[in-house]
Amino acid sequence: MATSNTPTKKRDTWGSKLGFVMAAAGSAVGLGNIWKFPYTAGESGGGAFVAIYLVFVIFIGFSVMLTEFAIGRRAAVSAASAFKSTDRRWTFVGVIGVVSGLLIMGFYPVVGGWSIAYIFKVSTGLLNTPEAIGDSFGGFISNPVQPLMWMGLYLLLNVFIVVKGISGGIEKAGKILMPLLFAILILVAVKGLSLPGASAGLEFLFKPDFSKVDSSVVLAAMGQAFFSLSLGMGCMMTYGSYLKKKENLVQTTAMVTAMDTGVAILAGVAMFPAMFAFNMEPSAGPGLVFVVVPQLFAEMGGLIGLMLALLFFVGLSVAALTSSVSLLEVVVSYLIDEKGMKRRTAVISSSIFMAMLCVFSSLSLGGVGPTLFDTGAFDIFDLLTDKIFLAVGGMLICIFAGWRLNRSDLEKEITNDGEISFPLFGLWYNLVKFVIPAAIAIVAFTGIKAGFDSGKGEIMLIGVGIIGIAALLSKKL
Ligand code: TRP
Repeated sequence: MATSNTPTKKRDTWGSKLGFVMAAAGSAVGLGNIWKFPYTAGESGGGAFVAIYLVFVIFIGFSVMLTEFAIGRRAAVSAASAFKSTDRRWTFVGVIGVVSGLLIMGFYPVVGGWSIAYIFKVSTGLLNTPEAIGDSFGGFISNPVQPLMWMGLYLLLNVFIVVKGISGGIEKAGKILMPLLFAILILVAVKGLSLPGASAGLEFLFKPDFSKVDSSVVLAAMGQAFFSLSLGMGCMMTYGSYLKKKENLVQTTAMVTAMDTGVAILAGVAMFPAMFAFNMEPSAGPGLVFVVVPQLFAEMGGLIGLMLALLFFVGLSVAALTSSVSLLEVVVSYLIDEKGMKRRTAVISSSIFMAMLCVFSSLSLGGVGPTLFDTGAFDIFDLLTDKIFLAVGGMLICIFAGWRLNRSDLEKEITNDGEISFPLFGLWYNLVKFVIPAAIAIVAFTGIKAGFDSGKGEIMLIGVGIIGIAALLSKKL
C-alpha cells in the first residue's frame, strides 16, 4: 500500500537529538572505518591516499550528506518514494540505492561474521601461537562452512534489531554501543603509539607521497569517502526521513562527518604505528585487521593483550552491526513504503536474500563458485558498490537536488524555514549543483579507465550499464 505515508499515519521519529546523531554516526562508523580504511590506505600508499580521502570527505562527503538529510526529511518517506513523489523519472536513483543496499549486504555480513568469530577465537587461545595467526585467518575465511555460520548469526542479530523498528531498536543500540567503541579505539591507539618505532607508522599515514597517486587511487579514495559516510544510496536520506523538523541539519551533518572521519583516522593510528613497530607489511590486504591486530596483541602478551584484543573485536562487531542495520533499513523501508509489506515480512524476506548473496561471497574467498572476469562474488559486490553505485548514486542525488528541486525549498528545509542561519548555503548549493557532479564524473571515468589495467574496469563498466538500464526503465519501477 503506497499510501501508508499519508499525514493520518504518523511516521516513527527519533526519540532525541542525540539519539539521531548517534544513530547516523552509528551507520557511518563501521567496518568501513576500521576494516576497510586501514587496508585500503595501506594498499594505496598511505599518506597521499589519506590526504585525498580527507579532501573528498570535506568537499563532497559533507555536502552530499547534508543533501541526503534535507531530501529525506522533506519527503518523510523512504528514498525511492522520495524520488518517485517528486518525479517518476527519478525513481531509479532510489531503486539503485536499494540494489546497492542488497549488494553491500551481500558481503558486509560476511566480514561482520568474521568479527564475531574473532571474539571467540581470541578468547579460545588464538593469541597463544602468534606465528600461526596469519595462516589461521587464511584457513578460516576459505573454509566453506565455519564463516557461513558466523555470517548467519550476524545477520540474525540485524534482523532482531530492525524488526523492532526505528526508535526502539536502532537508536538504543547506537546510544549504548558507540561511545564504548570510541573508548576502546582510543585505548588501542594509545597503546600502539607507546611502542618503540611507532613514529614510522604515523609518517606512513600522514606524510603524503603524491608520486604514488594514480586515477585508481583517487577513485578508491572517493569510494572510501562514500562508503564510510554511508552516502550515495539513500541511507542517510532514509534516516533523515525519521528526523524531526526542528533539528539542525547542518550541525548534525558536521558532527556525523567529524565522528566518522575521526574514527577512521583513529583506526589508522591504532594500527599503523604498531605494525611498523613490529616490522609488518602495511599492504596486507583485507585480512589486515584480523591478522595484524591479534598478532599485535599477542606480541604484547599477557592478560592486557588478551583483554585489549577481546575489547577490540567486540567493538568492531558492534560498529559493524550499527552500520549494517542501516543498510537493511534502506531495503526494508522501501519494501514497506513501496510494496506495502509489513515490517516483519520485509525484514525477513530481504535478509534471506542477503544471506544467499553472502553465501556466494563467503565461498568465493575459498575459490568456490562463479567468477566474472576472474573476480569472485565478494569482490564483485564490493567493486560494484564501493567504486560505482555509491559515487554515481551520490552524483545523481546532487543532480536531483540541484536541478530538479527548488533552491528556495532546499534553503527552507536546511535552515528550518529561516530559523537557523547557514551562511555557506550558496557555496553548498553551487557545489551540489555543479562542482560535485562534475568531479564525480571525472574521477569515475578516469578510475574506470585505469581499472582496465587490473581487470576491474570491465566490472565497473557493467555497474554503469546497470544504472543506465535502471534509468531507462525508471517509469516502470
Ligand atoms: N558506512 C558504513 C561503514 O563504514 C557502511 C554503511 C552503512 C554504508 N550504510 C551505508 C555504506 C550506506 C554505504 C552506504 O561500515
